[in-house]
Order: sequence, then C-alpha cells, then structure tokens
Amino acid sequence: MSYTRKTIESIYFPKFKETLPSMKGKTVVITGTTSGTGYVAAETVASLGAKVLLLNRASERSVRASKNLRDTYQSVEIQTVDCDLQSFASVRTACKEVIRLCPEGINVLCNNAGVMALKDEPTIDGYDIQMQTNHLSHFLLTMELLPLLEKAAEATGEARVVNHSSIARMSPSKELKSEYLEKNGGKLGGDGASFLFGGARWKRYNQTKLANAAFTAALHEKLQKKGSKVKALVAHPGLANTELQVTSVKDGGMGNLFTGILMSMGQSMEDGAMGILSCMCLENVKSGQFYGPGSSSMALKGKAEPFPLESFYNNDAVRDLIWKKSCEAIGRDLAL
Ligand SMILES: NC(=O)c1ccc[n+]([C@@H]2O[C@H](COP(=O)([O-])OP(=O)(O)OC[C@H]3O[C@@H](n4cnc5c(N)ncnc54)[C@H](OP(=O)(O)O)[C@@H]3O)[C@@H](O)[C@H]2O)c1
Repeated sequence: MSYTRKTIESIYFPKFKETLPSMKGKTVVITGTTSGTGYVAAETVASLGAKVLLLNRASERSVRASKNLRDTYQSVEIQTVDCDLQSFASVRTACKEVIRLCPEGINVLCNNAGVMALKDEPTIDGYDIQMQTNHLSHFLLTMELLPLLEKAAEATGEARVVNHSSIARMSPSKELKSEYLEKNGGKLGGDGASFLFGGARWKRYNQTKLANAAFTAALHEKLQKKGSKVKALVAHPGLANTELQVTSVKDGGMGNLFTGILMSMGQSMEDGAMGILSCMCLENVKSGQFYGPGSSSMALKGKAEPFPLESFYNNDAVRDLIWKKSCEAIGRDLAL
C-alpha cells in the first residue's frame, strides 16, 4: 500500500523563523535530515549560519538532501555523516567521525530521526526496530558526544541536547515498560496495526516516544546534579505532514484512507519543526522544558509553546528505569 502526501500550507513558520537568532559560530548535529522536521531544522540552522552535521543512514535520499542543502547554503559548512540508527556499530563509527569533524565542540545535538508503527522486527543488535531507532541509538549518540557538548558549554556558557517525542508518548499507555527496552526485538506483540484500538505496532511506537521524554527527564536531572551547563530539552511536532506516515503506510502500519483523514487534521512539516527549532535556537530556553503545540493528547497543531516535563515519566522510578535499561543496551555503566 502507498500513501501520497497532500500539501498543507505553513501558518506560523515564516513569522517564527524571523524570531530566531543567528546561529553563526555554532555547531549543530541533527539525525534524520532526509525529509520532514529534520530537513526543515537543518535548513533553518544552516540559513542562520550554523555549521551543520547531517547524520543519516546512507541512501539516495541522504545524498539528495545533503546536496540540496550544500547547493543552497554555500557559505556554511555542511557535513554528512553516515549513521544507521538500527545499528549500534554504525552509531559508534558515526560518533568517531563527528568527534573528528568537531574539535571545537557541539552546541546542539538534535536527536530527531524516527520511524513509526513498523513491523515487530529485531535490529541486528536484537532490540525492537522502533525502540533502537527512536531512543536507544540516540541515547548512545548522546553519551558518546556528551564530552563535545560539555566542551562547547564550557566555552560559550551552554549547549543543548534536543529530543523529539510525540503526543503518542501518552497513548495508549503512560507507563514505560522495561520489556520494550530489552533485547526482545521481534517478540513484542506482533504486527497489529489498529491505531484506535492499541495495535502492537502503535504500542511499541508509544513506548519509544515515552522513552524520548523519559530520557530527557533523566538527562536533565543528572546534568543539573553535576552542575553541567548542558541543557536537556524535548519537543513534539503535533501531527506534521512528513514522510513518517508514508513510511508507516508502506510497512502496513496505517491504512491509506485512515491516513488521509488523519492528516487532514495536521499541520505543515515547517510548523511541526517549530518545537525542535525552539529548543535548538531560542535564547531563553531552560533545561527540562518541553516545546510543542500544547501538552494535551489532542495537541495536533499550533505554535510551539513551552510546558514542564510531565509527572508520568518525570519521577524517580521512570528516570531510573530509562537510564538503567538504556545503559544496559549500550553496555555502559550508570555514571554520566
Ligand atoms: N510527523 C509527525 O506527525 C510526527 C508526530 C510526532 C512525532 N514525530 C517525530 O518527528 C521525528 C521526525 O520524523 P518526521 O515526521 O520528520 O518523519 P520523516 O519525514 O519520515 O523523517 C524521519 C527521518 O528519520 C530518518 N531515519 C529513519 N530510520 C533511520 C535510521 N535507521 N537511521 C538514520 N535515520 C533514520 C529518516 O531517514 P531515511 O530517509 O533513511 O528513512 C528521516 O530522515 C521522529 O522522531 C518522529 O517520531 C513526528
């Protein structure tokens, strides 16, 4: 099955972009910039003068996106680093390359890439394909690049880790469960695709987006405790008109008709990118803030506004769980 996106015009983005400060002298690393919110974010920070590293798995889409950005923004440095989030080995190799390319440090790491409602399949490392792509590999990336973030923070007064969650963090469940963070790939409920009645594909997606928010809460707490100037932030795009739904329909995670109806309630990918861009660029953001078009499960569109991290994951038990299980997955001890 296939789904073709309809055009949705941006309502807020053009004015929002005018409010963003210069990013000259800053180094920004973003995952998943071949389309969607990641592409918009990469293009926006390049237009604001940042050095940008595009972390994508190798593909024609990656080559095309990099070329478009390089052709358009010739005066800024834009580097492409191959990074397949389905493989810890690939992420580790990518980190070595990022470290080589950024001796100055990293001002912003945006963990944007994601997949949605894919089949119940394991990665090469044995984890759920959605959980490894959306959270575990981003956890590894963040831990490996933290010294470079600390370096930039020491030099300039701050640096930022920006995670990308979703309204799906609270539906169908607000409870993060350890089995989704363990080596259970392919054994997590099968390929049920019912969006409205908690199909297993959607339960797994829900867990990954809850993990993004819980990781932010745990990282924020740990960074604050050690007196770090690195900020941990999280955003959600509402319902944004990107390739995410196209990929899900292709994999059998959503039906064509339902997707068309759902997306008629959504917003443009540019409007959807305002949450991560606020976290990445705005001057007065605070560690531990969540940016999106509202905090409710119906926050599908609108301006990105800040709200506090939520108690269903910002508590001792969930922060401990996400940290412990993520450390186990990447084979590191519990210290930052
Ligand atoms: N669109 C929405 O309504 C919505 C709602 C809530 C949250 N989000 C979140 O927004 C983020 C961005 O998604 P999007 O909506 O912009 O979708 P998108 O257009 O499909 O972009 C997703 C990006 O992730 C990349 N990616 C997927 N698997 C990867 C892998 N194994 N290794 C490296 N990169 C990989 C894709 O690259 P390839 O070209 O290699 O596939 C693509 O660049 C995701 O975290 C998603 O969960 C989106």
